[in-house]
Amino acid sequence: MPTHQSLGGTSDEQLLQRMVTTHADRYGATFWELFAKHVAPSLPPRPVMIDLGCGPGLLLRDLGERFPPATLHGYDVTPAMIAYGQQLAFRGPKPTFALHDVTTRPLPHDAGTVNLVSMSSVLHVLDEPLPVLSEIRRVLAPKSTFLLNDWIRQPLSKYLAYRREVLGEGEAETGRGFRLFPVHNKFTPDDWRWLLTQAGLAIRHQAQLRDSHQIFVCQPAA
Ligand SMILES: C[S@@+](CC[C@H](N)C(=O)[O-])C[C@H]1O[C@@H](n2cnc3c(N)ncnc32)[C@H](O)[C@@H]1O
Repeated sequence: MPTHQSLGGTSDEQLLQRMVTTHADRYGATFWELFAKHVAPSLPPRPVMIDLGCGPGLLLRDLGERFPPATLHGYDVTPAMIAYGQQLAFRGPKPTFALHDVTTRPLPHDAGTVNLVSMSSVLHVLDEPLPVLSEIRRVLAPKSTFLLNDWIRQPLSKYLAYRREVLGEGEAETGRGFRLFPVHNKFTPDDWRWLLTQAGLAIRHQAQLRDSHQIFVCQPAA
């Protein structure tokens, strides 16, 4: 299966390290302000939370610290990501981590039983996003949340500048930027809205915390 990594010529280990080193920036104060205002109020006292394509598991660690009664599940197709999550220290509840390809297998959860599904920088990689969104919709409980945080289309010059200035890539790595441009710049915010609506997900709130990404806070449509 073509993964994010193989498409961009980035190894699993390089992607893992990048996810770890950028985590604090990506999930900083503005993210948690959005979460407190638009997600937390709809969570029950003992929420079930999934991070789909959880990478190194750091978002689940942070969620566990903020919501100690939560039951947390992390799924990812890359063994190195799951191994990293499993060896993390947790002050909150320890998540269940499992190797899982969301494009080939249903989620191991009954319909209508999950209070939060988060998917960050994953959906753009998948060839067919609609069946995966439909599977997410299946497991979501009434009044629950799907939090989609993903890349949006940017001009090439801006994207290459971001890779130089934010990711610290040098001249020698420009080729990677060109290879990843069509992967990261596939969907506009309108495209994401259309996909979510097609999948029966209603958007409660939408925000752009970074030039490269848009966040959609969704719930099952009535
Ligand atoms: C860019 S990383 C983001 C990781 C994490 N969500 C974060 O924001 O730190 C994308 C992740 O999606 C995972 N992934 C890609 N295709 C997947 C699939 N079909 N099923 C499950 N996970 C997948 C990759 O292994 C990788 O860990």
